[in-house]
Amino acid sequence: MTDNWHPLDPATAGEYLAGREIMAAAGLLADPVRFAYYGLEEPPKDEVAKHEAAEQGPADRRLRAFLLNLESGESTDVVVSLTKGSVVRARTVDTAAEGQLPIIDSEYHLVEEIMAADPDWQAALARRGLTDMSKIRIAPITAGAYRAPAEDDQRRMVRVLAFLQAGEHDLAWAHPVDGVTAHVDLIARKVLRVIDAFQLPVPTESGDYDDPAVRGPERTTLRPIEITQPEGPSFTVEGSLLRWQDWSLRVGFDAREGLTLHQVELAGRPVMYRASVPEMVVPYGDPRFRYWQAYHDTGEYLVGKWVNSLERGCDCLGEITYLDAVVCGETGEPREVRNAICVHEEDAGILWKHTDIFNGSAQSRRQRRLVVSYFTTVGNYDYGFYWYFYLDGTIECEVKMTGIVFTAGHPGGDHLYSTEVAPGLGAPVHQHLFSARLDMSVDGPANAVEEVDVTGLPIGPDNPYGNAIAQRVTRLSSEAVAARAGDASRGRAWRVLSTERVNRFGRPTAFTLHPEPHPALLASPGSPLAQRAGFAARALWVTRYDPAHRYPAGDFVNQSPGGGGLPAYIAGDRDIDGQDIVVWHTFGPTHVVRTEDWPVMPVTRTGFMLRPTGFFDRNPTLDVPAPPGHCTIEHGHER
Ligand code: NI
Repeated sequence: MTDNWHPLDPATAGEYLAGREIMAAAGLLADPVRFAYYGLEEPPKDEVAKHEAAEQGPADRRLRAFLLNLESGESTDVVVSLTKGSVVRARTVDTAAEGQLPIIDSEYHLVEEIMAADPDWQAALARRGLTDMSKIRIAPITAGAYRAPAEDDQRRMVRVLAFLQAGEHDLAWAHPVDGVTAHVDLIARKVLRVIDAFQLPVPTESGDYDDPAVRGPERTTLRPIEITQPEGPSFTVEGSLLRWQDWSLRVGFDAREGLTLHQVELAGRPVMYRASVPEMVVPYGDPRFRYWQAYHDTGEYLVGKWVNSLERGCDCLGEITYLDAVVCGETGEPREVRNAICVHEEDAGILWKHTDIFNGSAQSRRQRRLVVSYFTTVGNYDYGFYWYFYLDGTIECEVKMTGIVFTAGHPGGDHLYSTEVAPGLGAPVHQHLFSARLDMSVDGPANAVEEVDVTGLPIGPDNPYGNAIAQRVTRLSSEAVAARAGDASRGRAWRVLSTERVNRFGRPTAFTLHPEPHPALLASPGSPLAQRAGFAARALWVTRYDPAHRYPAGDFVNQSPGGGGLPAYIAGDRDIDGQDIVVWHTFGPTHVVRTEDWPVMPVTRTGFMLRPTGFFDRNPTLDVPAPPGHCTIEHGHER
C-alpha cells in the first residue's frame, strides 16, 4: 500500500489473489466452483470519511464474489475481508426466488458443444438444409423468467438462436436461422426442448464489411487531423485521483458496472459521492417466438468484464492518459486490461462569445472538457461509456452505441416489428434503457429533489395576452412520490439541491438533471419483463442512501422473477427531503433500425446532463483567457 492509497481505489491483482486464497482456505472453491462475479466491496461512506480524517488506518478492505458450482448449480454470495483474512459472509442464493448468477465464460463454449451434439437441434437445422454443424454459430441468450412449465426457467438455463457462418471471415449476424430456438439446461448440460416455430430462408447477402467486395474501394479524400498539446494536458493523475481545472474525482472500475466515479468535486465543493451506470436492459419488440429476448447486459453479462483495450490514434485521438483495469475470469484469476480507461482533454467548441453593439467589445472563449471513458463489447453490440466534465461545471454522461444490430429473418414488405436491412434480413425494433446511479452530494450529503416543469399559462386577468411562461416546481418529498416519468412537452427536469447551503440570493445551491426525450420501457406494465426491469418504467427514482442498494434490477438479475432493485428499494417510502439521497436516472433510445445501421452501425449516442443551477453566483468561466491571437477586441481596439 502506498502513501496515497485510498479506500475507494480499485482492487489490485494481488488483492484478488489474496481474496481467492481466503475463499479456498474456507473450502468455498472446491472444483467445479467458478466465479460468476468478483469485485471490490466498497466500504460504507462513514468508514471512508474516518479514513480521510485519519481517525483510523485503512478501512476494512473487502471483496465480493458470486460463486457457482457447475455441477450442482449451488450459487453463493461471498464477501471476504482482506484486512482480517477471513470470510465475512457466504450466503446461498435462493435462485428460484432471487435469480441466477450472471452467465460465466465457459458456459458459452458449453452451449456450443451441447447444441452441436443434440439430435433434435440437428434435425431442425437439417429441415432448413443446414447439415454442417461447424458452420452454425450459437447466440446463448439469457432466458428471462416466465415461470410457466414450458419455459423451463426454474433451472439455470439459456435460450439459443442460431446463425450461419459460411466462411472464417463471414459475418454470421448476416445469416440468422430464424424460427427455431432451443432451451438449454446449463447444469444438466442438455437441451430441454427445441422449438421449431416457422421457417424463413436464411438470408444470403454478405455482411462482411471488411470485404472490399462489400464496402467498395476505400475513399482517398480524407486528409490527416492531428491533435497536439505541445505542453501536455492540463490534468493530473495520482493513483485513482484525477484533477483537472476546478474538478477532482476518483476513478474506479468494476467487472459488473464498468467505470465508477467517486467523490466528484467542483471548486473544492462536493457534487456527487459516486456515479456509475450499474444496469441496462435491451428489450426486443418482436412478439413472435423470440419474445424473451431482453438483455440485462450489466446484471446478466457484466459489461465491465468485456472492457476493450484501447489504442491511441484509433479509439482516442490526441494527448491520452490511459488507466489499466483489473477484471477476473471464472477461475478468479485477475487479468490486467491495458489501456482500459481513456482520460483526455478535448476542445468543445465555443464556451461563450459576444460582440457588443454598444461598447464594441468582441470576445470569444473556447470550451473544454475532461473526458473519462471506456468501451465494452457485449455480444453483437459495442458500448462506449463517456463522462465529460466541462469548464462551466456541466457534467455529461454519454453512451455511444455501435457494433452489429441483432438480426432475424424478414418476410419482406412492411413488417411491424423489424426493418429489412438486407434482402430477407430483418433487424427487430428494440430499446436500450440504461440506469445511472448518481449518489448526489451537492454541497454536502443533505440534498433534496424538485421536479421542474415549464408551462405556458392560460389567458386571464394576470395574463391578458397569453404570453406568460411559468416554472412549476414540485418538491419530491418521499421515495414513492419521486418515481417519476419524463415529460418532454414540459421540458421536465429535476433539480438536486442542497438543503444546507445557499448562494448570494439565498437560494439553495443545486445541480439540475436534464433528461433526453425518449420513451421509458414500452413493454406492457403487466408483462414479465416489466416485472424484471421495473427500474426502466420510470425516468427518475430517488432513494435514501443505503450501501446495499446498488443495482437497479437487483443483485441477481439473470432469470430473476422481478420485483428486486428500485421497486423494492422504495417500498419503505422513506423521506428524501434533506437526506443523503441517491438519484437514479433511466435513459436511452428506442431503436427503430435504419438501413444505414447495417452491416455495422455508425455510433448513435444517448445520455443526460447535470448542470450547476445557482451553484455559482455567476458564470464561473469569466476567468478563462481568450485563445492567443486575434480573438479579442476590447472597446473597439485589438488587444
Ligand atoms: Ni440498438
